[in-house]
Amino acid sequence: MQSYAHLFAPYRLGPLSLPNRIALAPMTRTSAEPSGLANDRMVRYYTRFAEGGFGLLITEGAYPDLAHSQAYENQPGIADEEQAASWRPVVEAVHRAGGRIICQLMHAGALVQYNRFVREAIAPSAVKPKGRQLEEHGGSGEFAVPREMTREEIDAVISGFAAAARRAKQVGFDGVEVHAANGYLLDQFLSEGINLRTDEYGGPAANRVRLTVQVLEAIRHAADRTSSSACAFPRAR
Ligand SMILES: Cc1cc2nc3c(=O)[nH]c(=O)nc-3n(C[C@H](O)[C@H](O)[C@H](O)COP(=O)(O)O)c2cc1C
Repeated sequence: MQSYAHLFAPYRLGPLSLPNRIALAPMTRTSAEPSGLANDRMVRYYTRFAEGGFGLLITEGAYPDLAHSQAYENQPGIADEEQAASWRPVVEAVHRAGGRIICQLMHAGALVQYNRFVREAIAPSAVKPKGRQLEEHGGSGEFAVPREMTREEIDAVISGFAAAARRAKQVGFDGVEVHAANGYLLDQFLSEGINLRTDEYGGPAANRVRLTVQVLEAIRHAADRTSSSACAFPRAR
């Protein structure tokens, strides 16, 4: 272990004090209830990592709103109070085992394979994703051509992320992570060739990163305004 002298040393991540530097990467598992509720299976999955000594767990990507953000069948959401409450046993079990847990928020954008709420996909521009959908995720065949998002829909996505972060804080998560990679909505905005917009969300890099920055700012604002005695979001623990 001498090559990894710091691996088991405590680490300060913003306001969080972590017992070590071992973290679980976010991994989509699609093991939630069809309604998007977290369940006992997920409690057992996450608790095992905390009991095994992982200092920080990042959850699988959870969808933040009851509109276009769901990507997969049996993906968990944190899009309303009921879904948020279903995460509480996960969070509490991880905390009891000495771990910290952050909720990853993920919006599918064009990369939707199954969505209970709407039939169409939205994206920065009407560019069809490459590849084929997987039946195990509830999809089949080629991806649909998404519809270019209106400014109102962009605003709704920002609000959706912020509201989901507020719920995450209220049920005791130690923070949230925004999924802005791997081809999902925020990555679609970041990517030349997929983002063909001519407004202030398209074109130069400063425009393409705008939505991600606005999502982060809205989350920061929502978290600062959320009071919860049970939650350590803004405080050290
Ligand atoms: C089955 C599977 C599901 C994944 N789901 C997510 C996810 O929900 N969110 C995310 O940010 N990354 C996701 N990833 C990416 C992983 O977190 C990780 O970044 C990737 O596997 C690369 O890790 P490595 O560099 O250690 O190999 C997933 C990866 C796999 C294999």
